[in-house]
Amino acid sequence: MEIRLQEESAIKKIINLQEVDSTNNEAKRGAGLGAADGTLYIAETQTGGKGRRGRQWSSPPGSGIFMSLLLKPGISPDNASMLTIVAAMAVVSSIEHVLHENNCTAECHIKWPNDIVINRKKVCGILTEMSTGLQDINYVVIGIGINVNTKGFDEELKLTASSLYLETGICFDRNDIITAFSKEFTKYYKQFLCTQDLSGLMAEYNGRLANVGKQVKVIDVKQSFTGTALGIDSRGELIVLQEDGSRTLVSAGEVSVRGLYGYV
Ligand code: BTN
Repeated sequence: MEIRLQEESAIKKIINLQEVDSTNNEAKRGAGLGAADGTLYIAETQTGGKGRRGRQWSSPPGSGIFMSLLLKPGISPDNASMLTIVAAMAVVSSIEHVLHENNCTAECHIKWPNDIVINRKKVCGILTEMSTGLQDINYVVIGIGINVNTKGFDEELKLTASSLYLETGICFDRNDIITAFSKEFTKYYKQFLCTQDLSGLMAEYNGRLANVGKQVKVIDVKQSFTGTALGIDSRGELIVLQEDGSRTLVSAGEVSVRGLYGYV
């Protein structure tokens, strides 16, 4: 099956690549050459796939989804980082959609801010990069890596990472997931653009958040603390209740949040 785009889709054009260093890099190069808002770059394999915090993202051919969406939203640069949460919502609901279509009952959750987990193991990561001026956004690139049919991970990685195949025993058609993603992303993105915050998505996001009500360790460059995660606010910050009853708002990018007793 090929990827089908709806008429009103936020994804306007798809560029398929056999091999590229990183779809995020390709999207940024495209932006420099005037590529349009809504261009989605999809690669079969990446030779230099990038994860968050300077990590690598393993991208062997044939097994995963490696894609980057170029957006040029007319919103304030202050609001752009929330797009990564919009993308996480779209990925989690598109994965759940294909799981249901395959009569699979596995549940898909989000580890704040934007890792997608099944059975508390990461099956998708999102790396958002952007170029902004003082008032305007030049572009935002949302890079999404989904471990779809990956058959195994190395000893260290397999403690925290998995794939849709490993968690369900089913081989999925990657195009089905991308088709569902284009539909789901369009829905959530339109909702986000109306208010330019997450007020319309917050309740659904918190319903899918694996951390809610759980003890988390917030690891900052300056200090670390533990508390109970309560959910996100309308700007996507994680509300953490500390033992003394105080609430701290944690912004993505500044910190890393781990479960107190494991990855989630
Ligand atoms: C993470 O560390 O959790 C983020 C991983 C993001 C990986 C994707 S794969 C497609 C896009 N291109 C990249 O080089 N990285 C992102």
